[in-house]
Amino acid sequence: SRPAQLVCVIRKQFSTSNKAYSQPKEARVALLGASGGIGQPLGLLLKQSPLISHLNLYDIAHTPGVAADLSHIETRAKVAGFLGEDQLKQCLKGANVVIIPAGVPRKPGMTRDDLFNTNAGIVRDLVDACAEVCPKAMIGVITNPVSVVTPSEVLKKRGVYDPKRVFGSDNTGRGSIKYIHCRGKGPGCLESERAGDWGHSGITIIPLISQCTPPVSFPQKIGLQIYLACARCFLFAFSVVQQSPSVFLNPKPEREKLTVRIQNAGHRGGRRQGWCKAKYFATPVLLGKEGIEKNLGMGKLIDFEVNLLKAAMPELLANIKKGEEFVDKTY
Ligand code: NAI
Repeated sequence: SRPAQLVCVIRKQFSTSNKAYSQPKEARVALLGASGGIGQPLGLLLKQSPLISHLNLYDIAHTPGVAADLSHIETRAKVAGFLGEDQLKQCLKGANVVIIPAGVPRKPGMTRDDLFNTNAGIVRDLVDACAEVCPKAMIGVITNPVSVVTPSEVLKKRGVYDPKRVFGSDNTGRGSIKYIHCRGKGPGCLESERAGDWGHSGITIIPLISQCTPPVSFPQKIGLQIYLACARCFLFAFSVVQQSPSVFLNPKPEREKLTVRIQNAGHRGGRRQGWCKAKYFATPVLLGKEGIEKNLGMGKLIDFEVNLLKAAMPELLANIKKGEEFVDKTY
């Protein structure tokens, strides 16, 4: 009969034995600060990924509503909202990847130091909970001006630090977007690297124009402005988060070989070159299932860039010290 035929067709199409529908194993992502300006669109992007089985959204406000909205999208990830400190550990249970855009924006009258202390405190506590509940998770920190130092130091205190699994993120997309706008090119026309930029202090943001593909040239002053003058943009934060879980979860080895430009600890290339004394430094890395497989270093820099890096080093070192001291004093 027709109904029987229909059932048969439906069964065939949705059969779990059909290889086309087979899905990767369980993969859990926790997004902390999920109700914010970064968190909400990031959650939306993560919900699109067929590689994610569970998407846990945590915030101190609005997560039930944000989670309800996302759960209406017909994709694989099962969305759950967690609200307030009492539910943080529950949110982190079993997480393979934790992404942190939680924090407060700079308010009128707030100094950079105030902002650092507030946001570093938030990230410290969130990462401390990760250390307890999901110590093997990969942790990506978006919050400014915290980045990778505070979380790394907390994980060290807890004895679960693995430099391959902690990332800062920054917006290397900005330079590319500015270039696209300036030159009227299409997206993806320029791959660029950016070094430094721990703590978002102006001088530590270094454009690596020599590393652009395809090669480009601008007057050096404009090149620098391309990085410094751009308004906040989410592209890189998104690309990190989109790439990290897929890199991490995708069963096919060739798909794991994605290059992601993120900050991570312990860049050695610069040290070998003699001028980089920083323990934490932003470089492009290759991610694999176990985190960073390879630090790709910065390539061969031109003198202009080396000079910018040398000039930035005192501030970078001071920023790192501040992050370390913050954890020493407050943990
Ligand atoms: P926002 O203020 O819109 O959102 C922050 C969210 O964090 C809010 O929903 C808030 O409730 C939540 N939050 C605050 N304290 C929390 C806690 N203890 N636990 C959990 N959640 C908490 O700010 P927005 O625009 O989303 O930016 C977030 C952070 O990301 C900022 O620090 C910003 O500077 C940084 N950022 C970094 C970028 C990068 O490239 N690394 C790019 C853009 C923003």
